[in-house]
Amino acid sequence: MQVVIVETAAEVGRLAAAKIGHRVRTRPDAVLGLATGSSPLAIYAELARQVAEKGLDCGAVRAFALDEYVGLPAGHPESYRAVLDRVVVGPLGMHPSNVHVPDGSAADLAKACADYEARIAGTGPVDLQILGIGANGHIGFNEPTSSFASRTRIKTLAPKTRADNARFFDTPDQVPLHCLTQGLGTILDATTLVLVAQGEAKADAVARMVEGPVSSMCPGSALQLHPDANVIVDEAAASRLTLGDYYRYTFANRPPWQRFEDFV
Ligand code: F6R
Repeated sequence: MQVVIVETAAEVGRLAAAKIGHRVRTRPDAVLGLATGSSPLAIYAELARQVAEKGLDCGAVRAFALDEYVGLPAGHPESYRAVLDRVVVGPLGMHPSNVHVPDGSAADLAKACADYEARIAGTGPVDLQILGIGANGHIGFNEPTSSFASRTRIKTLAPKTRADNARFFDTPDQVPLHCLTQGLGTILDATTLVLVAQGEAKADAVARMVEGPVSSMCPGSALQLHPDANVIVDEAAASRLTLGDYYRYTFANRPPWQRFEDFV
């Protein structure tokens, strides 16, 4: 696992976007895994800037969302389909038909999950999966005690997750109870993982993910099993890491071929 600690939340987004932009320049039809929520917003804004100012072309990029709420009416502005259209597909100039989101309004949700897995398998592997982490350690919407072998399926959102996401809705009770989410097994199939976290509220989850035991009690700790997991955090989110100085030292002394930020 590569752990990168930078000063500010803005720098987290810039560095992660540099790595993602480099992947797209290397492979214009790369398959990206897209997270929603607040954590990746700076990444998407920086990628949009690269598109506008640096000639980055995302027109052939294919993408799969991590998750979707169940039961929101079609076109609801907080459905992850709508959010991704707004903050990723349009600003990055992606082709809408190349961007896939689990169908949280399907009549047969189990079939929608199986279809989603089949589509990923037929297109993938996902080259680079963007991730955030919940304060309770979830990735995607794989809440604590999710199986490390899990695939896309229906999950019940933890009360903590619903409370955290209430800020996107008019009232807390409007946050859906259920979601469809890629499983931990699905996420681990991606070639490269890039997880970003910012702020003190994520410090405990980040420490458990990076330095705690591999345990379904912290689903993010599944990243310890992945051969190319990259965790990019700001100082506040890094504040409970035991080996912070070591991560700063290894990043400062990284070999030239890992200086992906120089390629933008
Ligand atoms: C959403 C997702 C979640 C979020 C997590 C953190 O697609 O995958 O795991 O990354 O809930 O949310 P924010 O970034 O809003 O703190």
